[in-house]
Amino acid sequence: MSNKAARNLFIYGSLFFFVIFVMLTIDTMGKLDKRAPEITEEVNAGKMVWHKYDCIGCHTILGNGSYFAPDMTKVAEKKPKDYLKQFLMDPKSVNTKASMPKLGISSKEADDLIAFLDWISRVDTNGWPPKPILATAAGVAVKELTAGQRVYQSQNCANCHMVSGIGGTTGPDLTHVGSKRDRAWLFGHFKDPKAYVPNSAMPGYGHISEQELNDLTDYMVALK
Ligand code: HEC
Ligand code: HEC
Repeated sequence: MSNKAARNLFIYGSLFFFVIFVMLTIDTMGKLDKRAPEITEEVNAGKMVWHKYDCIGCHTILGNGSYFAPDMTKVAEKKPKDYLKQFLMDPKSVNTKASMPKLGISSKEADDLIAFLDWISRVDTNGWPPKPILATAAGVAVKELTAGQRVYQSQNCANCHMVSGIGGTTGPDLTHVGSKRDRAWLFGHFKDPKAYVPNSAMPGYGHISEQELNDLTDYMVALK
């Protein structure tokens, strides 16, 4: 290659990649705003409450914070708002073993916090944080799941409950629930948890079909 060709290759090559770099930058900047929903008054207020109680001293959010407590980035997507409100105002009323302290959060502050957490959960984070592998506590393929296990999965029970070490910790561990509760109790409790456990923070499942409730109960009864 002559000197001139080498020089041209250097100049035009650099120029080519510089232009690509500028185009990619413009493309990214244009998409940034679309990755997060609009910020409302409540979301702003909720962020102030988040700072007031130093939630980040225990929790992580969008990758920042402490590893003492669960990540909050997608919590509002996974947990119903009623549940979150009750938990925020008095964690032990939801789960007697909760180690999150009762911080003295007011009802208004809880609503604002939930608006903030809901906003965060709708920020497009490209799939971060990775979902835990809930598929099958038993480690079997999806098609081998029993009807009850499939309902358990589709209703995302594992967001709150653990079976054989997999799942959330805010509801009771269900690994041996079949030795503790009978059919009638389980079936009735699914339909209306508060009728069985006063102040229960578990959402009711009266809206799913009788068949699904029966399958789910079969699954629970077998957990011994
Ligand atoms: C002293 C540490 C600590 C502080 C401060 C704290 N948390 Fe927690 N939080 C925890 C722990 C630990 C858990 C896990 C459940 C448990 O054991 O209580 C938790 C659980 C939660 C949950 C329920 C998660 C779930 O999946 O059910 C929410 C929501 C939550 N915290 C929000 C907050 C918010 C909002 C603040 C600030 C107002 C806050 N936390 C401050 C320790 C803390
Ligand atoms: C938002 C969190 C949450 C979700 C989702 C949830 N639960 Fe619960 N669950 C709880 C809490 C909190 C309790 C404790 C209060 C109570 O017993 O009602 C509980 C209690 C239970 C109990 C009684 C356990 C015992 O030892 O007394 C069973 C069984 C149960 N849940 C099964 C399920 C199933 C199956 C699903 C899915 C269809 C489900 N839960 C969804 C929070 C949840």
